[in-house]
Amino acid sequence: EGDDVLVARPPVVTVMGHVDHGKTRLLDAIRNADVGGGEAGGITQHIGAYQVTATHDGMHRPITFIDTPGHEAFTAMRARGAQVTDIAILVVAADDGIMPQTVEALNHAQAAGVPIVVAVNKIDKPEANPAKVRQQLTEYNLVAEEYGGDVIFVDVSARENIGITQLLDAVLLTADAGLDLRANPNKDARGVAIEANLDKGRGAVATVLIQSGTLRVGDAIVAGTAYGRVRAMLNEHGETVAEAGPSRPVQVQGLSTVPRAGDTFIVTSEDRTARQIAEKREAAERNALLAKARKRISLEDFT
Ligand code: GTP
Ligand code: NA
Ligand code: MG
Repeated sequence: EGDDVLVARPPVVTVMGHVDHGKTRLLDAIRNADVGGGEAGGITQHIGAYQVTATHDGMHRPITFIDTPGHEAFTAMRARGAQVTDIAILVVAADDGIMPQTVEALNHAQAAGVPIVVAVNKIDKPEANPAKVRQQLTEYNLVAEEYGGDVIFVDVSARENIGITQLLDAVLLTADAGLDLRANPNKDARGVAIEANLDKGRGAVATVLIQSGTLRVGDAIVAGTAYGRVRAMLNEHGETVAEAGPSRPVQVQGLSTVPRAGDTFIVTSEDRTARQIAEKREAAERNALLAKARKRISLEDFT
C-alpha cells in the first residue's frame, strides 16, 4: 500500500543493578526530569513502563523506560523469547561498588547483546568512590571512555538530582551511535506484555509495549493465552489514548485473562481468531503439563 515505511522510534531502556543501589530512586529522578510531561500536579499512574522526553542537541526526544523491578523482569521476558530492551542502565552505588547482582545484571545484558550505560549512583555520599567502580567494571569488559573504552559512565545522585540529564544524554548518544531504532507504524500492532494484573473494577489490565505497528482501541488482540478487544488504553499519566505506536507503553483493558510478563501480543482481524489462537495455546500448554506429569509418574514406577 506504500505504507511500508520505517520510522525512528524511541529507545526502550531497562534499569538494572544490585539491591538498594538506587534503581527505583533513579527512575523517580528520571521521571521528574521529564521536560514533556507538562501537567503539574498530575498523578503519575503506575503502568509498568513510561515515556519521558529529554532535551538532546536542542531537540525533544522521548525515551521509554521499563519500570519493573530489576533484572527479574528482564530474565522472565527473555525466557519467553521477548527482547524488549534496547539499552540497559546499570546502576552501581559508588559507596558499595560491584556486588553479585551487578554482575548478574551485566551478564544478562551482555548475553542479550544489549548495550550498557553505567550510572554510578550515590556520588553525594562522602564514601563514594566512582573511580573504583570504573576500575572494577573493566574486569567485566565494561571499559569507560575515559579509560580508552567505549562504555559511557555517568556519575549521578538520584537523591540530589545530579547527573540525570547527562544520563539521558548518554542513553540517546548510545541509541544514535550503534542502534538502528526504527519500526513501521503503518500496520497492525505487535509487542510484548510488560506486566499485568487483575483489577476489581476494570478486569484484566496489562501494560503492553508496542514494538511495531499501531495499536488502536477496538483492535482484537491475543497475548499469550489472553484475548479480547482493546476496550480502553491509558498512558502513564492515566489519560485515555485512542492509539499507540512503536516503543509506546500503554495500559490495555479488555483482555479475557491476565497475560504473563514477556507474552507477545498480536492484532488479529477478528475477535474469533484471537480467541481461537488463545484456546489453541491453552490446550497446548495443558497437554504439555499432562505429558510432563505422566512422564514423572512413569519414572516413579521404576524407581
Ligand atoms: P531494590 O528495588 O530493593 O533492589 O532497591 P533499589 O535499587 O531500587 O534502591 P532504592 O532506589 O530503593 O534505593 C535504596 C536506598 O538508597 C534508599 O534508601 C534510597 O533513598 C537510597 N539512595 C538511592 N539513591 C541515592 C543517592 O543517590 N544518594 C543517596 N545518598 N542515597 C540514595
Ligand atoms: Na530498596
Ligand atoms: Mg527498587
